[in-house]
Amino acid sequence: MSVSSKAVVLIGGPSKGTRMRPLTLDTPKPLFPIAGRPLMWHHIRALSMVAGLTEVFLIGFYEDAVFAPFLKDVSREFKNLSVKYMREYQALGTAGGLYHFRDTILRGNPGQIFVLHVDICCSFPLKELRDFHGTHRGLVSMLGVRVPTETALKYGCIVPDPRTKQVLHYVEKPEGFISDLINGGVYLLEAQGFFEAIRVAMVRKSQQQAEDPYMYQDDLLRLEQDVIVPLCDTKKVFVYETPDFWRQIKSAGSALPATALYLNQYHTTNPEMLAKPTPSGPEIVEPVHIDATAQVDPSAKIGPSVSIGPGVVIGAGVRVKESIILDNVTVEKNAIVSNSIIAADCRIGPWARIEGEPLKPTSVEDSSTKETITILANNVNVARDVLVRCCIVLPQKTLTSNCHNEVLL
Ligand code: GTP
Repeated sequence: MSVSSKAVVLIGGPSKGTRMRPLTLDTPKPLFPIAGRPLMWHHIRALSMVAGLTEVFLIGFYEDAVFAPFLKDVSREFKNLSVKYMREYQALGTAGGLYHFRDTILRGNPGQIFVLHVDICCSFPLKELRDFHGTHRGLVSMLGVRVPTETALKYGCIVPDPRTKQVLHYVEKPEGFISDLINGGVYLLEAQGFFEAIRVAMVRKSQQQAEDPYMYQDDLLRLEQDVIVPLCDTKKVFVYETPDFWRQIKSAGSALPATALYLNQYHTTNPEMLAKPTPSGPEIVEPVHIDATAQVDPSAKIGPSVSIGPGVVIGAGVRVKESIILDNVTVEKNAIVSNSIIAADCRIGPWARIEGEPLKPTSVEDSSTKETITILANNVNVARDVLVRCCIVLPQKTLTSNCHNEVLL
């Protein structure tokens, strides 16, 4: 029988996710559409498949109202799960938020707690993580991911015992290289023991603050630095290395590779979620997501790695590839959109070209930056024949002449 478990998704708040701007000016990052679904929908879907898991808490410091429609939708879709949002009165840090809501999380005495960062895209191998957790006697199993050596310093780096997988050293964003195995932001914790470790970390931090108020000014309690690192010293942390895909979603551009990865996954696991080529429909190069309310002219060619949102109108002869097109965008005849994100209510004139540089399929890095793709924020108009290449365009602009490598305010 499986151990009872609950889950927490750490979703941050409006002061986080600023690197996703201008896309998150109107939509909070956890709701930004990735592969046609809100970013955190993918987390909830993965959690809904864990045997014995019935409760998911989203912990953050956004206004409550912003998540109400999403919570309604997921409760309808994932009937086996109760999903609740719990709001921190201010940012408490990744462990502070967990501790603040400990009574609710521990109600009913769950054996294990999954904790997921929201700002990642991954296959969420939760069953594998749980199986691995059963092989050791530690308090924490964390998901480890191999990244290219030159990018490792940007993450929490893990040095494990090669045989037992016990974490010998963990350093958050080290100054020099220690390992290319990094923290993927997915944990499985022994509930009682781990919350006791957070309590100890809380007491330690208060003592440090009392002794040196200048050095320890903030009230944040961090999961990695304040709780996991001391637990590594007591040999309680183990790492499960996934061979599957993983990306961090920090910058606006990282929505594109994340969309491509999820579309690829669902093409294999849930093809019914994606658009299928039909003899009378547009030419589809799979995998592609097209919302049921979008209208795509049969002479258009769409894909691969394209997500088209509700109410979008795609005209005759249009070509779209490796791009995200959000709600109510109109793309007029013979326009081309590639390696770009087009936010809601934009209008792209006939024969216009909106393009970025092709995705790098091998990199796990958050590499699609503002220099390499084009992002049109809400309500941008692009006139006919205009070429927009590798630009960030802020809301409400009208573009009537060609632009390259620019940020247009
Ligand atoms: P950065 O590169 O500095 O962003 O560090 P990081 O990738 O380790 O991310 P960070 O630790 O800031 O956040 C990890 C996850 O926790 C993200 O999903 C955040 O949205 C979330 N998070 C961060 N701070 C808080 C907080 O104070 N409260 C809550 N509930 N969530 C948080």
